Amino acid sequence: MTGTLLSVRGLRVGFETEEGMTVPVDGVDFHVGQGEILGIVGESGCGKSVSSFAVMGLLPQNGRVLEGSILFEDTDLVRLDEKSMCKIRGSRISMIFQDPLTSLTPSMTIGRQVMEPFILHRGFSAAQARTAVIEILGQAGIPSPRLRFSEYPHQLSGGMRQRVMIAMALAGGPKLLIADEPTTALDVSIQAQILALIRSLRETLGMAVILITHDMGVIAEMADRVMVMYAGKGVEYAPVADIFQSPKHPYTRGLLRSIPSPDRDVDMLDIIPGTVPDLSGMSPGCRFFDRCGNALAKCGHTQPELTAHEDAVVACFLYDPPHIETSPRKRVLGHGPARGSSK
Ligand SMILES: Nc1ncnc2c1ncn2[C@@H]1O[C@H](COP(=O)(O)OP(=O)(O)OP(=O)(O)O)[C@@H](O)[C@H]1O
Ligand SMILES: [Mg+2]
Repeated sequence: MTGTLLSVRGLRVGFETEEGMTVPVDGVDFHVGQGEILGIVGESGCGKSVSSFAVMGLLPQNGRVLEGSILFEDTDLVRLDEKSMCKIRGSRISMIFQDPLTSLTPSMTIGRQVMEPFILHRGFSAAQARTAVIEILGQAGIPSPRLRFSEYPHQLSGGMRQRVMIAMALAGGPKLLIADEPTTALDVSIQAQILALIRSLRETLGMAVILITHDMGVIAEMADRVMVMYAGKGVEYAPVADIFQSPKHPYTRGLLRSIPSPDRDVDMLDIIPGTVPDLSGMSPGCRFFDRCGNALAKCGHTQPELTAHEDAVVACFLYDPPHIETSPRKRVLGHGPARGSSK
């Protein structure tokens, strides 16, 4: 891996709601190296999609970045006006959304939809774009792309629609692809094909990927490094091998126990008791306190800071002296995870 492509620091995102301001992303730091796959994992509602919408500059109207910076190739996207952001979106950074059916325009052929980024971002003529679309649909694993060009989204299967989304995301030649649960809506064998496709495109095109999922199996297969999110915060950052061999945060350990196996069909909520706390009634201490089997008294009233421990960075008092006597703790100042280990 060479150099950092994206560096998100101290990101806080707020939403105006009828009940006042909520802050579903409340202090998230991560970085993505060139050509690297960063996995973001966490339960539903923990802020994975909102974090990625912030990177794309696509927050809903009632949302805004309250604090923090999103450095992409040395440009702070938070401070960019919409016109400049438009140039980056779909060309330098693209996103595949959770639901491909709602993200494609139903009344437009898939060929025309995939042509758009070639024309808008790369200045292709219509004829050049048409040729490029047929090539890229083929690259995305769509059989008979010439025939598929003039079909409409509803004529394709879910797996094929997801491939069209991938083709569209690639059309601008991005350096960074954000894939938000790209396989959740698909059945298992198609899931495996789409993940293999994303991996091979990373190899051939050298693009970096942020892969968002709630599935630790997908993380194991795809990610180089992982950010574990809980209730709007990054609670553990580590290379993928460390996440599986020596998970630190009790929440990460809970997620690992939730991986289904042939002899064990489990749901995440069966394994980690309780649910993600309501964002409006968050406790002043660690957000995982109520569900944690290892909680200490101070976890209920004091928020743990991120500290480096071996190759991981973790926000948990279990890794604070005096609970750990053997490993010297290094407190991470400023933007620890951005300096985390890389492969
Ligand atoms: N426009 C909005 N207004 C108010 N709250 C919002 C809005 N959009 C999202 N939220 C809230 O932000 C929180 C984080 O949502 P987000 O979509 O990022 O979760 P997620 O981690 O992607 O979950 P999932 O795995 O279900 O996709 C949720 O509590 C959600 O209800
Ligand atoms: Mg989501």
